Amino acid sequence: MSNKEVHIDFNFMMKEHIGDDSGISPEDIDSLQDEANRIHRELREKREKKEVAFFDLPYEDTSAIKHTAEDIAGKYDNFLLLGIGGSALGPISIHNALHTSFYNRLDSERNSRPKMYFLDNVDPDETASFLKAIDMEKTAVAVITKSGSTAETIAGFLIFLDAIKKSCGSIDPSQIIAITDPVSGILRNIAENEGYRSIEIAPGVGGRFSVLTAVGLLSAAISGIDIDELMAGAASMDKRCSNPDIWTNPAYMKAVMEFLFNTRQGRNISVMMAYSEALGSMIEWFVQLWAESLGKKFRLDGATVFTGQTPVKAVGATDQHSQIQLYMEGPHDKTITFLRVGEFNNEVRIPNAFSEIGGISYLGGHTMNELINAEQKATEVALAKAGRPNCRIDIPFINPFTIGQLFYMFEVQTAFSGGLYRINPFDQPGVEEGKRLTFGMMGRKGFEEKKKEIESIKINSRYVI
Ligand code: PA5
Repeated sequence: MSNKEVHIDFNFMMKEHIGDDSGISPEDIDSLQDEANRIHRELREKREKKEVAFFDLPYEDTSAIKHTAEDIAGKYDNFLLLGIGGSALGPISIHNALHTSFYNRLDSERNSRPKMYFLDNVDPDETASFLKAIDMEKTAVAVITKSGSTAETIAGFLIFLDAIKKSCGSIDPSQIIAITDPVSGILRNIAENEGYRSIEIAPGVGGRFSVLTAVGLLSAAISGIDIDELMAGAASMDKRCSNPDIWTNPAYMKAVMEFLFNTRQGRNISVMMAYSEALGSMIEWFVQLWAESLGKKFRLDGATVFTGQTPVKAVGATDQHSQIQLYMEGPHDKTITFLRVGEFNNEVRIPNAFSEIGGISYLGGHTMNELINAEQKATEVALAKAGRPNCRIDIPFINPFTIGQLFYMFEVQTAFSGGLYRINPFDQPGVEEGKRLTFGMMGRKGFEEKKKEIESIKINSRYVI
């Protein structure tokens, strides 16, 4: 095992540690090897045909992204990213994993690079305060939408275009970067007509699998993150996931474990708990990946199945004081995945004080690093003793190489899980109706019936208290 690699410890998911009723046996895992071979073969074929293009992203040429990033970093004080779902969660999670939450305030961390802002909602109060706080004249704006027409992103884009016009008198097209499909979509047309900078999202890469395209890489490179290392980490994970043997492939093993717990024990909730503030946003990215990819009504053969585990985010040690009581003593409907960092970037020592008070003095001389990891260990052991299945992803340090590994591993795990459930993990038909109803309410041409449908709903005031 290399000390640069992330590894998963599944001990506390196995029968020998957590008991026959709660655990999984090696034979259970072996029983899925033929299925794993089939899924592996099918995914390889799709990869070769470029139908599932995220697999090859670590080997893409990123020189255009780096070039644009350096130009923007040298010219603007601020960078604003507009996107939603897969077009925002990836860049946000890279930023929060690899910079501190004080990046915008710490000159020593920013190193003269732009302050970074990410808006992934249409919250009027947040947008209005952003406009008050930030000088748009000195702000480069990236608008990211694969489809080119997502209402929330386009609304934000129109608002910020207008703000730039008002503050500068006109728009310098090089201030705007459109990251979208190479050919289709409204944003592609606008970018070409208006002469904005633009970077393509490769066809065959869906939103939630796009973090290693310009979607995630541009903002990372602008803020000085080594994107070559991110890609190298992903490529190293690709190698480790190239073998169909469940016992050597970390992504397949994780998928198999969750699948077994879900389908054989009814564990419908998958909690991911990071003992690291930096990794909290990465869990939000994973939540979208797992939820949108596997939450499906229909199997590929048309059968109605209603698949999917509900992913839940937790951050330790904070959520030990919030969620752990439920996980220890509540229903047996969960698996828990810990993210644990071996070496943090900083060591923070706890001072010796109040030596006469035993309830405090034991902490003195230790570090926060020891404390947070002791809490993680204690929590996993306590859960295992209570027959609660949990595993631990060990991340030796947080750096672009390990973060690249994690992104890639979770994406392969998700794609492979689609094969286990025999559903399509790359579509999201369940979000379409909500979009159509929104279009209707906002007066989009062609959606008049949807507006009528909403207006025709009879609200019984008895149920409104
Ligand atoms: O994973 C997905 O495909 C979605 O979550 C999309 O990323 C999200 O709906 C935004 O879509 P778009 O990038 O087309 O604006």
